[in-house]
Order: sequence, then C-alpha cells, then structure tokens
Amino acid sequence: MKKILVIGQDGMLGGELYERLCNSGKYEVYKTTIETLDICNKEAVINEVKNINPYYIINCAAYTNVDGCETNFEVANAVNGVAVGNIAEAANLVDATLIQISTDYIFDGKLPIEDAYTEDMQANPVSAYGKTKYLGEKNASKANKYYILRTAWLYGLGGKNFVKTMLKLSQTKSEITVVNDQHGSPTSTTSLCEIIEQILEKEPEYGIYHSTNEGFTVWSDFTKKIFEFANISTKVIPISSKEYKQMYPNSSDRPTNSKLLKNKLHSIGIYPKNWEDALNEYLKEELK
Ligand SMILES: NC(=O)c1ccc[n+]([C@@H]2O[C@H](COP(=O)([O-])OP(=O)(O)OC[C@H]3O[C@@H](n4cnc5c(N)ncnc54)[C@H](OP(=O)(O)O)[C@@H]3O)[C@@H](O)[C@H]2O)c1
Repeated sequence: MKKILVIGQDGMLGGELYERLCNSGKYEVYKTTIETLDICNKEAVINEVKNINPYYIINCAAYTNVDGCETNFEVANAVNGVAVGNIAEAANLVDATLIQISTDYIFDGKLPIEDAYTEDMQANPVSAYGKTKYLGEKNASKANKYYILRTAWLYGLGGKNFVKTMLKLSQTKSEITVVNDQHGSPTSTTSLCEIIEQILEKEPEYGIYHSTNEGFTVWSDFTKKIFEFANISTKVIPISSKEYKQMYPNSSDRPTNSKLLKNKLHSIGIYPKNWEDALNEYLKEELK
C-alpha cells in the first residue's frame, strides 16, 4: 500500500482529505497538525518525512487569512512560502511526490472578464496572501516530483469559510452587501478532495493543474445562490470592490478576474462538478 502523509490535517481541507483517504482503504495514511509539526521547522519536517517515508506528501497547511496576511506578512510568508521549500527538500530526500495546494490569488486578475487563466499564464499577485502563496509555488516546484493544484473560494464542513459566514450573518441581518465585480469559482473541499484522489490514482504528468469546481460567478451571485438553496430570505445588495474598500480600508486587494480554465484537468480525464451542484450538496450536509 502506498503511504500518504497529509500535512495540516487540522485544517478545513486537510481534515476532510485525511478522513476520505483513510476511508478509501487504498492507502496507508499519516497526518501532521500544527501541534505535531510546525512546517517552518525544517529539521522537524525532514525528520518526520524520513520517518514515514511516504510516496505522496500533500501539504494542506497554510496561513489562509487573506486580510491577515497584509499585517502579518512575515509569518504568512514563512508558512505559505518558505516552509513549502522545507517540504520539497524533504520530499526529494525520500523520492516522494509533493502535492501543494495553491490559489487563484497568484494572478493579478487583469485579464479581460470574458477570458480565464491557463496554468502557464504569468502570475502577478496583488495581495500579500497571493505573494506568499506564489513563493510557495516556486518552492514546491523545487521538488523533483510535484503537483501544484490551484483552487479558489474554498468552503467545507470542517472550517471557517465564506458560506458559513453568510449563513451566520443571515440570522441577524435582513440585508447583506456583497462584492459584485470579482469573478471566480466557488469550490467545495469535497470536490477538491475528489480531484486530489483522482490525481493520486492517475499520476498524470507533474506540474500545475487548475483545480476548482466548474463554472464562474461573482461573490454577490454566489451569496444569492447560498440563500436560495438554504431558503433564506435575507436580501443581497451587490456593491463594487471600490465601495467595499471604502467600507473596509484595511481589507486586502483581490483579483477582479480569477477565473481558472480547467482544460488541463479535463485532458487527464478529470471533470469537477459544477459549483452550484457542489454548493447544493454541501448545504444539504451543513444544514442537516
Ligand atoms: N480557504 C480558501 O478560500 C482557499 C482558497 C484558495 C486556496 N486555498 C488553499 O487551500 C489550502 C487549504 O486551505 P484551508 O482553507 O483548508 O486552510 P485552513 O483551514 O486555514 O487550514 C490550514 C491549517 O494549517 C495550519 N498551519 C498554519 N501554520 C502552520 C505551520 N506553521 N505548521 C503547520 N500547520 C500550520 C493551520 O493551523 P491554525 O489554524 O492553528 O493556524 C490550519 O490548521 C491552503 O493551501 C490554502 O492556501 C484556500
């Protein structure tokens, strides 16, 4: 049985992924959490990886507070950027394949709205979070065998996320203002786990794969869909990013267009669910 090490099992994606991989019965699955392994500690990372000697290392650990990265850049960069180099180095020592989870926020979002980014387009992050994750990509690519899976607008049962925030706000508000000019793909952790599991099975050519649910939307329409599926009457008031920034001046800049094209994923026979179907499935579980 192939051994898999899931780093960051205490996170939203890591938790679900670890459980699914264990339940699949196909792998011998190991985990680390922030309590058991600080990925910024290079020696500890190398020792852990040498001890387990995994076939795959999946790094789900990250500093994911996008606005927080602006004020805590050093810490965020150490975790999202530099530490990925520790994991890549450790992977090379045991000839493991590294799977690094990255983000649509490595792009500047200036592409015309009718277009979407391919994997080989130039990254140019506009936020501190994007910059740290882009360094993480560069460091992940130092592994001899690696997959970088760029996902976006992630939500799942086991963590804080946009969908949960909207559900919570709707309990006390009759109206919510949400940005209407940032385009991307909401992605459920379940769909991302399905993509990862197929990558593990298929072992396609190494490199970068855009890994989101299918279809594109804007945050305000995403919120309307959440409320529609959850039977919530709270009204969504669409506002521009500029208006949002005036309300929250310390918030991070985010790309206007972060639509990721998935032709490369399709070319290896992986077809993620549409974002609306994935959201509906998630809400059925979340609201049980
Ligand atoms: N969430 C999104 O919308 C989104 C969008 C695109 C891409 N992504 C990427 O998807 C991946 C999974 O995201 P997620 O939302 O599941 O993240 P998450 O829930 O925030 O989980 C990340 C985990 O990493 C841990 N961690 C932080 N610093 C660490 C360190 N030095 N050593 C070890 N562990 C550390 C965190 O612990 P603490 O919580 O205790 O700090 C947390 O448990 C990340 O790579 C993220 O960048 C996320």
